Amino acid sequence: MNVKEQLLKYARMTENALGKYIPSADCPQKSVIDAARYSLSAGGKRLRPALVMEFCRVCGGKPETALPVACAIEMMHTFSLIHDDLPCMDNDDLRRGKPSCHKAFGEATALLAGDALAIMPFEVIAKAGLDKTISAEDALKISALLAELAGFEGMIGGQTLDLEYENKQPPLSAIVDMYNMKTCALLEFCCKAGCIAAGADESKQDAAGKFGRSIGLAFQITDDILDITADEKTLGKPIGSDKENGKYTYVSAVGIDKAREHVKQLTAEAKEFLNEFSDTEFLNGLAGMLAERSN
Ligand code: IPE
Ligand code: IPE
Ligand code: MG
Ligand code: MG
Ligand code: MG
Repeated sequence: MNVKEQLLKYARMTENALGKYIPSADCPQKSVIDAARYSLSAGGKRLRPALVMEFCRVCGGKPETALPVACAIEMMHTFSLIHDDLPCMDNDDLRRGKPSCHKAFGEATALLAGDALAIMPFEVIAKAGLDKTISAEDALKISALLAELAGFEGMIGGQTLDLEYENKQPPLSAIVDMYNMKTCALLEFCCKAGCIAAGADESKQDAAGKFGRSIGLAFQITDDILDITADEKTLGKPIGSDKENGKYTYVSAVGIDKAREHVKQLTAEAKEFLNEFSDTEFLNGLAGMLAERSN
């Protein structure tokens, strides 16, 4: 099993499908459509869609069944990145190796493109229920889960705390809680939603969610490490953004060596949750690859 190749395969499936959801349009509101397409097609690892489709597959479904959900979460994630980069948040000018959305299209259009990408996922999931790609009940379950994990108790809540904590030194437990919300919640969604799309039972959904949470925490800690150690060209976003914005990260709290150790521990913990499934070579490989990523 070549993990990188499989990840690329899922990325291509996602990108093809995303292109159809947001076609180029010659209309008076073209700017916001162009901005959304610009950020969506700028690249990125496409980790979240891969998790959705692979969990659907290991639960006995076809990856294609979960493709609309995979696109939906990539839209939601891209919305979070567009807004995260705005001057009122992290004020970062580079994203996915290209000028950030607000740099390319202006702040107002970037704000609106983000808004559209936060709403569209619910259209895409609802329509997948209506055209019976997934059952209507699963579409409802997945929509409710996405709203919950992206909302006040999830990504938006975490982003709010991230701003609250600027220029402060919150205890490590508060940093972990904040990461659980801003990053882990959407990864939990990916893994659980893939299971739901395949009609898997609660115990599988639960194990998948825990896997998502554990790799999510490892993922955000690695993101903090890379903010210090990576080079801008490889990372595709500015280096030193956290320090510049007065963010007291997991790495600030425990140091780089311990942070790296914790990433390894969390990755090992995550892999334990895969025992609930069979045929997990890709998921195991992916977890390992993420722990050692350079972008
Ligand atoms: C960046 O996510 C935001 C975090 C949660 C750390 P990714 O590192 O998955 O970004 P892309 O999608 O590959 O650009
Ligand atoms: C952002 O965390 C997590 C999101 C929900 C977007 P960061 O602010 O560290 O993400 P990057 O480093 O800009 O991608
Ligand atoms: Mg941020
Ligand atoms: Mg940021
Ligand atoms: Mg970061």
